[in-house]
Amino acid sequence: MLNRKFLSNNYYYTSYTTVLLIFHSKKYIYSALKTIILFSFFFVCQMSFAQQPIYKNKNAPIESRVKDLVKRMTVDEKILQLNQFTFGLNNNPNNIGEEMKSLPPGIGSLIYFSADPQQRNRIQRKAMDSSRLGIPILFGFDVIHGFRTVYPISIAQACSFNPDLVKENCKQAARESVLSGVDWTFSPMIDVARDPRWGRVSEGYGEDPYMNAMFGVATVQGYQGKNLSDPFSIAACLKHYVAYGLSEGGRDYRYTDVSPQSLWETYLPPYEACVKAGAATLMSGFNDISGVPATANHFTLTEILKQRWKHDGFVVADWNAVEQLINQGVAKDRKEAGLKAFMAGVEMDMKDGIYLEHFKTLIAEKKIPMANIDDAVARILRIKFRLGLFDNPYTTIVDTKERYLQPDAKALAAKLAEESMVLLKNNKNALPLSKKIKSIALIGPMAKDKDNIIGSWSFNGKVADAESIYEGLQSEFKNTTINYAKGCAFDGNDETGFEEAIAAANQSDVIVVCLGELKTWSGENASRSTIALPAIQEKLVAALQKTGKRIVLILSNGRPLELLRLEPLVDAIVEIWQPGIAGGTPLAGILSGRVNPSAKLAITFPLTTGQIPTYYNMRNPARPAKEGFYQDISTEPLYWFGHGLSYANYEYSNATVSKTQFKKNEKLIAEVTVKNTSEVYGKETVLWYISDPVSSISRPMKELKYFEKKEIQAGESVVYKFEIEPMRDLSFTDATGKKILEEGDYFIQVGNQKIKIELIK
Ligand code: NOJ
Repeated sequence: MLNRKFLSNNYYYTSYTTVLLIFHSKKYIYSALKTIILFSFFFVCQMSFAQQPIYKNKNAPIESRVKDLVKRMTVDEKILQLNQFTFGLNNNPNNIGEEMKSLPPGIGSLIYFSADPQQRNRIQRKAMDSSRLGIPILFGFDVIHGFRTVYPISIAQACSFNPDLVKENCKQAARESVLSGVDWTFSPMIDVARDPRWGRVSEGYGEDPYMNAMFGVATVQGYQGKNLSDPFSIAACLKHYVAYGLSEGGRDYRYTDVSPQSLWETYLPPYEACVKAGAATLMSGFNDISGVPATANHFTLTEILKQRWKHDGFVVADWNAVEQLINQGVAKDRKEAGLKAFMAGVEMDMKDGIYLEHFKTLIAEKKIPMANIDDAVARILRIKFRLGLFDNPYTTIVDTKERYLQPDAKALAAKLAEESMVLLKNNKNALPLSKKIKSIALIGPMAKDKDNIIGSWSFNGKVADAESIYEGLQSEFKNTTINYAKGCAFDGNDETGFEEAIAAANQSDVIVVCLGELKTWSGENASRSTIALPAIQEKLVAALQKTGKRIVLILSNGRPLELLRLEPLVDAIVEIWQPGIAGGTPLAGILSGRVNPSAKLAITFPLTTGQIPTYYNMRNPARPAKEGFYQDISTEPLYWFGHGLSYANYEYSNATVSKTQFKKNEKLIAEVTVKNTSEVYGKETVLWYISDPVSSISRPMKELKYFEKKEIQAGESVVYKFEIEPMRDLSFTDATGKKILEEGDYFIQVGNQKIKIELIK
């Protein structure tokens, strides 16, 4: 990277050398003069260095630099740092010059809706050269599942149960982001989500707090690297703090009624884990947490985040979330909204300009103390210093060919896709298909799709980079005839394509039907009242089933689906989610058996929409045996969290534990041996749960505490271990946030086994 400070320090040395050269030939004549000039030059240099502000000295400790800079700033300069502007949103190249002119040079941050590093450098140069103190801008963007090399959506990533692989993908995303001029991503989303009507279930890691914590931490580590100042590190942003996943009725931007118990037990733990892992920033949610909006919530933003967890980075409000405090009924106008958000602990105002508009007055009116402003500015500057932006404000320009889609990045995206596709059903070994199969009818609106399959939130993903299911199958099944027919669109009533689809099916040995959701049905503001696929897609399968051929159903979607009517019609189901640009080959590998599926669901598939919410870690009901069930349908979901089939058979040995009676400071080791009794290599994830049958509060029926994915060769056995730390794994957090570990019985659950252990005095 260009190091602007390096250049300016070296200016003195370069000039010094020049002076020496000039005088060298006439050394006798000018010797006296030379001594004088050199002396004064040296003196000037010393003075300059001595006068160099601490904040510009890259060898000074970051905290001293922050302090020094805050001291030098005027009130206006400080307020500007608290604002995030947007750039490039209208995508009109003619306007870019004008748009840049309208940006004040001293702003804190920019949402950079552009991928042009040169443009970033122009904007940054304006900030460095035209702001009085030369404070760099922090360029943020939604890099959610890859920048240009788009990998699977987050819910799919979680199904891989392979956080290390997710971390590697995030590293690649960080690299592409840095080279495009982005320093900060608004990711990961670690909102535990249990209502698949909510479009944003696609953006998080499912229904379980531990999963969100583990994948959140892996993501933060992938983006931020070992050190934020590493050349390819970007800052992470945990969102949407907090409990946004509980949006009432699955409708976006809504109220969330969260009990203190659920807040501590379910919604806060992923945030705590990621804050401990060093996440630089957080984004406050759009939701209203039991009457106090997340963006004006002093308890969550200040008391928990800053005072209890000691987070020293900053919080940015979500898009217009400060202004929306008016809609939410807690502020009468923009000024009051700004005051409430800031005093609650939101340091940066995204987009709505309220802080800029009103803070000078609010400070003058003594409603906002200067100490709070200084603290907020220090938090923002701290992250800029940690990123090394003061010392390396500009992006190195490399050719786009080197910037994006590097072979290792694409290979990682494909690997993650492969590990995140879930084999949901496989009746009578309908899969894998033999590579010798003569013909496949490839049917459905998703079969040749290259746009929706990339997934929601993939601004820089390009259709041209994507591989369709059709292309994947073509290269996998080279000697097989593929009879393609679209059959129908994703939605609507047009059945005219059915005839062609049935004809293709009749000509083929097997039907692979590819259905799913448009990418716009997932993500922000994409709630659906039913999680079933549109009737036209179900009708298509019903028509195909009449051919009597084997049917393999491929699903690409961003949420769990209601498969009540589809599941009985088909022999096998592979859930591929939205796999990104490299989904075709991994899926084809699963269909042919070259790849043994290893994913498991990170979120439960309810049987019907009416079963929502259904999640594995519910609390015990009062009448568990025969009552309290739905009268019209089963109360059991179709596929529980953790469900996922393989082509291998895994046999679990009797699980053991190092002690069955233990004291609170003693660690236990639980072990189980898994044997691959099949003839195919595979990867098995062992999930370890804990349950507490009697406690002073009712606890979830079981809670995931650890998981491990390992390779097992055909015929071989592998030992899995879970090291139990009683305070970490057996305690519960009460409604005040206190961790409590009670004596008594607990169960360790693995596979279908339960081991009883007892905590004694
Ligand atoms: C609104 C979304 O809720 C948030 O997730 C996103 O990061 C911001 N907009 C910025 O685009």
